[in-house]
Amino acid sequence: MIDTSPVACKEFFSYLEKLFSISVSDIRAMIKDFHVEMGRGLSGDESSLKMIPSFIDKPKGNERGDFFALDLGGTNFRVLAVKLDGKGNARVPFASKFAIPQEDMQGTGVALFDFIVGCIDAFLTENQVDRSKTYDLAFTFSFPVEQTSIAVGKLIVWTKGFTATGVQGRDVVGLLIEALKRKNISCINITALANDTVGTLAARSYVDPACDMGVIMGTGTNACYRESISNIEKLDVPIADGHMIVNMEWGNFDKVRRTCYDRPLDKASVNPGAMFLEKMVSGMYLGEITRLVLVDLIRRDLIFGNQAHGAGCFAKRGSLRTKGMSRIEGDKTDRLDGVALFFKTNGISNITLHDKILLQRLCRIVSARAARLGAAAISAVLTWIDPKLKDVHTVGIDGSLFEKYPGFKTKMDDMFKELFGEKAERITLVHSKDGSGKGSAIIAAVAASSKP
Ligand code: GLC
Repeated sequence: MIDTSPVACKEFFSYLEKLFSISVSDIRAMIKDFHVEMGRGLSGDESSLKMIPSFIDKPKGNERGDFFALDLGGTNFRVLAVKLDGKGNARVPFASKFAIPQEDMQGTGVALFDFIVGCIDAFLTENQVDRSKTYDLAFTFSFPVEQTSIAVGKLIVWTKGFTATGVQGRDVVGLLIEALKRKNISCINITALANDTVGTLAARSYVDPACDMGVIMGTGTNACYRESISNIEKLDVPIADGHMIVNMEWGNFDKVRRTCYDRPLDKASVNPGAMFLEKMVSGMYLGEITRLVLVDLIRRDLIFGNQAHGAGCFAKRGSLRTKGMSRIEGDKTDRLDGVALFFKTNGISNITLHDKILLQRLCRIVSARAARLGAAAISAVLTWIDPKLKDVHTVGIDGSLFEKYPGFKTKMDDMFKELFGEKAERITLVHSKDGSGKGSAIIAAVAASSKP
């Protein structure tokens, strides 16, 4: 029989805290594993880190020009006009955002690319763009892409809930060109293909030379950093000096300790057996992990005891979103009225203060693990670049989790202090706003300026 006493509840929460905890020694072990996987990925051996060369170095800050940029990688698709003034300023004179219909995300590739081009068409019309001229366009495509040059790359595998058929294994720039032709749009010249992490690094390093790493903590999570070309052994190029940005695809890192809640989440996902780190760290999944623990708490009668119907409200997959967690954790009122309101709008009223405290604690447990794992991954990359942390490093980060989740950045900074002591001051996490929009335009400008 299940023990539902307050002691049982206390014990269960201590158990959860332990289950989700990431100690400093766990982090040290993770950093070692990360380094091994990074080395293997760079030399072309089997690795959970793909370590994809981007064929571009970071900007110098004097790049200039007018570009269009596309941003595909989350629930919305964006088209932007970006103006670079060559003095570190990237302006967006106009931009449009479109929600991607589920049937295009998970239908055929042709439908998805037709949707994209339909948005471009609407953007051109809405902003009265003269179609008799030609415009350079940078394509931020935030999925694992095997790039073979700055504007050519094949999708390796979909992530973040996308499953559109006929795209994996194909050059996504080629697919975009075909779709543009189908709609008779000939004023677009695609000059760069970039991952959102690469755009984020570019956007920050355009104004800050100490930035050598770009990170996304949003719907998904990933990072890129600046690597010596001589270390990218798998790269079959005659030039071996200089640097290149490497897209790590760290969401797929698999040397992580998963719990009895992570496993069913993975199993029910559209990509089981992959993206283990992403499924523990990013916004697409944190709500679901929390929901699975909540369902367990309800099943054990440890929460919502006064709400006979409580169990049904969160029975459905995806019914608790990370956004909701952030409202719960961010409630600073004495009686946690915000938490009560959140549950009321989800069909659970008259929630007790005790339950509200438990819910806040639960969100904190899940988000703290995410922040600490994210910080551990950053530490791994920085100590790969600079083992003794002799230099200062700016990490440009974008994504709603980092930007909006209450206390996320503080939890990461705290972990750096635990791990590095005073040297933690050499690591600065900076919100690099709209790396996936402005950043890819900067990449296009770098590509244009490095053409022989
Ligand atoms: C997923 C994608 C990766 C992207 C990240 C953040 O992990 O595979 O390419 O950078 O999400 O958007």
